[in-house]
Amino acid sequence: MRSWMGYFIGAVVMAGVSAWTLADDLMPTGPYLLRYPASFGGRFTIPADNPTTQEGVYLGRLLFYEPKLSSTRTISCASCHQQARAFTDGLPLSVGVSGKRTQRNSMSLTNLLWVRQLFWDGRSASLEEQAMVPLGHTDEMGSKPGQAARALQKTTHYPALFKRVFGSATITDTLIGKAIAQFERTLISANSPYDRYLQGHYQLSESEQRGLNLFNTAPSPERNVRGGNCAHCHGGPKLYQEVFHNNGLDQQPTDLGRQAITKLALDHGRFRVPTLRNIALTAPYMHDGRLATLEAVLDHYSEHIQTSPTLSHELPGQTNGFQLTLVEKADLVSFLRLLTDSTFIHDPQFANPHRTVRTE
Ligand code: HEC
Ligand code: HEC
Repeated sequence: MRSWMGYFIGAVVMAGVSAWTLADDLMPTGPYLLRYPASFGGRFTIPADNPTTQEGVYLGRLLFYEPKLSSTRTISCASCHQQARAFTDGLPLSVGVSGKRTQRNSMSLTNLLWVRQLFWDGRSASLEEQAMVPLGHTDEMGSKPGQAARALQKTTHYPALFKRVFGSATITDTLIGKAIAQFERTLISANSPYDRYLQGHYQLSESEQRGLNLFNTAPSPERNVRGGNCAHCHGGPKLYQEVFHNNGLDQQPTDLGRQAITKLALDHGRFRVPTLRNIALTAPYMHDGRLATLEAVLDHYSEHIQTSPTLSHELPGQTNGFQLTLVEKADLVSFLRLLTDSTFIHDPQFANPHRTVRTE
């Protein structure tokens, strides 16, 4: 099955790439239609100077998978953001050109169209701007300003592609960022069993149903109501609220998180609430990748919440957690596994376009 899928993807990519390199009139051009469920809402902005076009998205995809963007020509964005892992890398901390570990865990790249404060601490305000960070970071891709652009300028095919997309064959870092941002806006995940359940097309098992109830319910011991209160932060169709919280990992956080950006005491040890979409594929967990499995995450929320002045009021600090039973933990894990969107991780439009055909 796996190798069959590989051939299938290969054939589609091959057709796409030869269209680009052979016949100009076969190239996909024109506006790119972003498709998403109505429930995701239209609360996003695409910069007026970087509309999403089919040719731009395709160039962005080539660049996302392009190791020539790094100083050593060995690391691409996809080194740390792999499609099969919902665009994470499976490591607690990532490794780039320097061989040194990054400060934080690689983030899943899904439904970024709606995110306005990128990174664990929300320090970047647009995908165009964000892409410049890993490009120049000494522990990620390590390119000096202009270095990546010069490397692409020397190739036979990239100048023509940039001309096609942006009207100029002169490649700049800014244009590289724009094209990559266009590709990233298309990384929409909306076809997990949970999405199908919300549309009335999937029947939950008993364990999944109990897990969903715990996920959505704030506990109330006086009324004998059990719950994990997860949806308070990770709820909604996209499975995150764009807010910053301290979820009780440490009494004295070593990474300041959001506070490093805002300088506010109340942001000490707060991080952006990550999406739980495809969460079964994106281990290890948390901003520093300290928890290896979903079971360990449930143990954290159940028994290991650390109290500190900025701990969220939605989490029970006094009891060190929600005190879930083994069955409740297992039910929550079954629910979290429903959030895996296998269409997304197998979508040939997000796959490595260089895999089957060298483009030069
Ligand atoms: C060496 C590994 C590495 C490479 C290479 C890398 N990234 Fe990342 N990426 C990370 C890490 C680690 C984070 C989280 C960093 C943080 O929050 O401080 C991250 C975060 C992101 C985010 C934020 C997602 C969100 O939800 O806020 C985006 C977008 C992103 N990367 C895109 C890219 C792009 C585009 C490239 C290529 C130009 C790239 N990355 C290259 C490791 C990497
Ligand atoms: C008060 C808000 C809040 C509540 C309630 C909450 N979380 Fe979280 N969750 C967060 C924050 C913030 C992070 C990131 C923390 C960090 O890395 O420092 C996170 C991280 C996670 C992660 C790791 C995500 C990743 O990509 O590494 C998982 C899994 C998770 N939470 C599941 C749950 C479950 C299950 C529940 C309910 C039992 C829950 N959360 C309740 C705020 C919350």
